[in-house]
Amino acid sequence: MPVTVVVGTQWGDEGKAKIIDLLSRDHSYVARYQGGHNAGHTVVVGEEKYALQLIPSGVLYNHVTPVIGNGVVVDMPTLFSEIDKLESRGISCSRLKVSSQAHLIFPWHQLHDALAEGKRGDDKIGTTLKGIGPAYADKARRVGIRAGAVLDPASFTAQVRERAIDESAILVALGGQGVDVDAVVAQFATLGARLAPYICDTVNELHEALDAQQQLLLEGAQATFLDIDHGTYPFVTSSNPIASGACAGTGIGPRDISRVVGIAKAYTTRVGSGPFPTELADASGAPDELGQALITIGHEFGTVTGRQRRTGWLDLVMLRHAVRLNSLTEIALTKLDILDTFDEVKVCVSYTLNGETLRGYPDRAEVLAQVVPVYETIPGWKTSLRECKTYDSLHANARALVELVEKIVGVPVTMVGTGPERDDCVVRS
Ligand code: GDP
Ligand code: IMO
Ligand code: MG
Repeated sequence: MPVTVVVGTQWGDEGKAKIIDLLSRDHSYVARYQGGHNAGHTVVVGEEKYALQLIPSGVLYNHVTPVIGNGVVVDMPTLFSEIDKLESRGISCSRLKVSSQAHLIFPWHQLHDALAEGKRGDDKIGTTLKGIGPAYADKARRVGIRAGAVLDPASFTAQVRERAIDESAILVALGGQGVDVDAVVAQFATLGARLAPYICDTVNELHEALDAQQQLLLEGAQATFLDIDHGTYPFVTSSNPIASGACAGTGIGPRDISRVVGIAKAYTTRVGSGPFPTELADASGAPDELGQALITIGHEFGTVTGRQRRTGWLDLVMLRHAVRLNSLTEIALTKLDILDTFDEVKVCVSYTLNGETLRGYPDRAEVLAQVVPVYETIPGWKTSLRECKTYDSLHANARALVELVEKIVGVPVTMVGTGPERDDCVVRS
């Protein structure tokens, strides 16, 4: 199986990084295909905890070539701070390759992000304020600057200056703060020179690896329901995290992909605004007792912004739709251990709207906001799953949850997360 795609099936933070780290053992290339430093990915190896935003989660292995694909938007200050942190801990990033076609993020993107969110007031999306939307907007408007531009420093500097002058004027006209053009040009000239050795024709590199029978893993950030086309628009990110985004974001064609692993948390979380049918919260949006328990036990705080995540029960209507949108071949069900102490666990198996059971997943966020979830209840297992190393050693009630997921969504659950550490995972053959 030459190419595997890993994709989040909910609203992010499903534990993608841990599963990617696990799968990286059998892959020689791990390529991020979309998003930017809005992602926060945590890998725990023994006493060590690695928090990644841009660099692919496969970087921790010496045999892996990490690739930042053409579909990613790259914030150079974050990239180098991440490289410096990893290298200071003995993880070499010298193998890292950054697509010449990836777009760069500049300070004006972050300023536009903050300005737009401020103007939305109560209707704000709750973005990470990393400039992701404005950077993708510039790519679509064909005024973005691509990473490969740093290979010609004089031209790169001229492009940065021109864009900085234009964007500064627009920001000021919109009532925001402009940028210090000379300071930005100087800062990015230095950053560009540092980026140059990492620039690569990654499309060609990945195809040569395929031709040489290498195993490739394409790593999605964010998730299916944050997808700009298929997520809960406008409460979405500005890229296509779904599996087909992996093709556009790396240059690998769909026929080369043979395995698509959907990562689903055993409950649901969301950061930022937008409808959330199974949310465990009161009318004011504050978490109820069970929602708070999921936050506390599951440490549900964003790694990028530190925001408390909203929490709720597992939603199999979403997951079934994620199977369709991504052609999932299997599911990795993570953080099952977080439910260890619950008396009972609920799972949403369908939605009703005005008393009628809905067929399919609502196509509009306004409709999703009105659906009523229908739950099945599974008795809690009230025991720690942490030491379980085989599927059969999981408590029967935990297995009942796994098997309900398989029955409702129609694809096998091949991995079950039982703790944060690298090997806290039951892999089913
Ligand atoms: P990602 O954005 O999808 O990569 O997920 P994050 O890294 O943002 O959040 C997942 C969190 O859950 C991280 O802190 C992981 O260390 C942790 N985690 C992942 N899988 C498991 C699991 O099976 N059990 C527990 N207890 N923690 C897990
Ligand atoms: P990982 O890869 C969870 C959310 C933001 C906001 C919306 C738009 O760690 O799963 P953006 O800054 O992208 O314009 O914000 O998307 N969001 C995430 N939520 N996990 C993420 O990444 C996210 N990346 C963006 O909270 O609601
Ligand atoms: Mg995350």
